[in-house]
Amino acid sequence: MTWTARVLTLFPAMFPGPLGASLAGRALEQGLWHLAVRDIRDFAEGRHRQVDDTPFGGGAGMVMRPDVVDRALQAVAVEGEPALYLTPRGRPLTQGLVRELAAGSGLSLLCGRYEGVDERVLEKHRLVEVSIGDYVLSGGELAALVLIDAVVRLLPGVMGNQASSEEESFGPGFDGLLLEHPHYTRPALWEGRAVPEVLLQGNHAAIRRWRQAEAERITRERRPDLWTGFCEKTRSTPRTGKSRAQD
Ligand code: ADE
Repeated sequence: MTWTARVLTLFPAMFPGPLGASLAGRALEQGLWHLAVRDIRDFAEGRHRQVDDTPFGGGAGMVMRPDVVDRALQAVAVEGEPALYLTPRGRPLTQGLVRELAAGSGLSLLCGRYEGVDERVLEKHRLVEVSIGDYVLSGGELAALVLIDAVVRLLPGVMGNQASSEEESFGPGFDGLLLEHPHYTRPALWEGRAVPEVLLQGNHAAIRRWRQAEAERITRERRPDLWTGFCEKTRSTPRTGKSRAQD
């Protein structure tokens, strides 16, 4: 069965958007994954097909109606597959969650607009709330595109070089906790800047050690939160000085 992303949105024109280009776009054309987009407005009733209303208790903005969202979810969501609601108050999207989602057969994504969605329909459908970061977008659509892109590249056959997903930042090859080491290509000398010697000498063990040391240095300098997690996972105390591979 082909992995399928089912998207509920008030702005269907935003899809496939960037997912129609590059790696995900090629995979979509090749049928390695499917995208099913439904306009939430199709499930609204009445002459004005209203999807939102003013919030009980007052306040700014509009709230998406539970009955409309309920009909949309009933029509689109698949029993046994995760249904996610993209919102800044959700659990953070991590590579671990992305891997879990890629291992399934697909998912449904509810993209909210306005001030949000009536809480009761989120409860009824047990939607998993997911955030792509601590900032506020004008709707869930861009977050859905980000999530789908992250999942699709892990699907079988999508990435030509499977190994590269295991070695990158947050990939399982790096315990999921270290940022990537730097990369270099030709020319070996560019504008007076030389590529590190070790990468030119063909000693693969030395190259592996250098890359590990660089990954640890970069993680320590830029992401103390990840560094602490890495040190805990590798059962050592956080170090502020030299990296392990240089010890
Ligand atoms: N909708 C608005 N902002 C969002 C965010 N940061 N993550 C997920 N969905 C959102």
